[in-house]
Amino acid sequence: HKTLKVALLGAGNVGAQVARILRADADSLAARIGARLELSGIAVRNVDAPRDVDLPRELFTSDASTLVREADIVIELIGGIEPARTLILEAIEHGATVVTGNKALLAVDGPSLYEKADAAGVQLSYEAAVAGAIPILRPIRDSLAGDKITRVMGIVNGTTNYILDQMDTTGAQFADALAEATRLGYAEADPTADIEGHDAAAKGAILASLSFHTRFALEDVHCQGITDVTASDIAAAKDAGFVIKLLAIAEKLQSSNDDGSRTEGVSVRVHPTLLPREHPLAAVHGAFNAVFIEAESAGELMFYGQGAGGTPTASAILGDVVSAARRMVLGGPGRTETTTGVLPVLGIEAVTTQY
Ligand code: HSE
Repeated sequence: HKTLKVALLGAGNVGAQVARILRADADSLAARIGARLELSGIAVRNVDAPRDVDLPRELFTSDASTLVREADIVIELIGGIEPARTLILEAIEHGATVVTGNKALLAVDGPSLYEKADAAGVQLSYEAAVAGAIPILRPIRDSLAGDKITRVMGIVNGTTNYILDQMDTTGAQFADALAEATRLGYAEADPTADIEGHDAAAKGAILASLSFHTRFALEDVHCQGITDVTASDIAAAKDAGFVIKLLAIAEKLQSSNDDGSRTEGVSVRVHPTLLPREHPLAAVHGAFNAVFIEAESAGELMFYGQGAGGTPTASAILGDVVSAARRMVLGGPGRTETTTGVLPVLGIEAVTTQY
């Protein structure tokens, strides 16, 4: 077997699981790919920090740049904007395939990164960036490519779904539920991004961009988190037959102009939403995620699964790694139509409305 060098950047909840699986399943992955994936190193800030997963110390380095320059595939799991962006750019310049789960970076800088990857003829994949283990970006981009999506509604943040669900089902306090979500490894390092809705908004921007073939950045998404949702709001919703969920919603809107013409737009927003208890999304409990799609021909679709946590998110990362590696084995890392990116703009005017 040929060997492909894999550089891992970051060894947090997800990174540690990716490293574990790459090593534990090396033989079966090699058989599936037709090449061996060699974990050439793991770049971290502090090589001596304690880790959840037992990994050989010699794999760790604080010199991410050198690791990136010597890799065929770079997995970026540092999160945040810098140094993740610089390292991804270095990987692209070097011609390495990039796999990332970095929704925050893609939501602010995705279009420029996709263009650079495209210009350099390298793949940039990010299935793990939205809804963890749930295969959702490829279905939207590929399986629904011949349909017209009219609306996407997602529970795309596990931490806030966990908090709201605990408050609804056990009467838990907000702070206690947040502490538990953090302990279980769902929350971001700074959980402000979860509870203020920014994490869901980043994912909403990515979902909307792929669903509506245009480009949405974080700043285009109206965003309201769950910090103002009280126990009595939840109880009142329950009495009325509703459940409160934090949803990321992207939908096509049409408005009539004074001259009789129509303007089409897309609204992208994140906010606590009253859902009828019989809606399929109301049955999504704990830290699970789900994305509900309405399309002109397909009708209603729902994708459900674990949207946060080390091992589930590692599944999506490894899916991208294996498919990138297979393409490299088949025909080199060159430009392919399966590169995850934003499709050409179709002339839909992007608008953001308050709900
Ligand atoms: N903090 C995120 C969540 C992790 O709770 O869903 C997955 O992106």
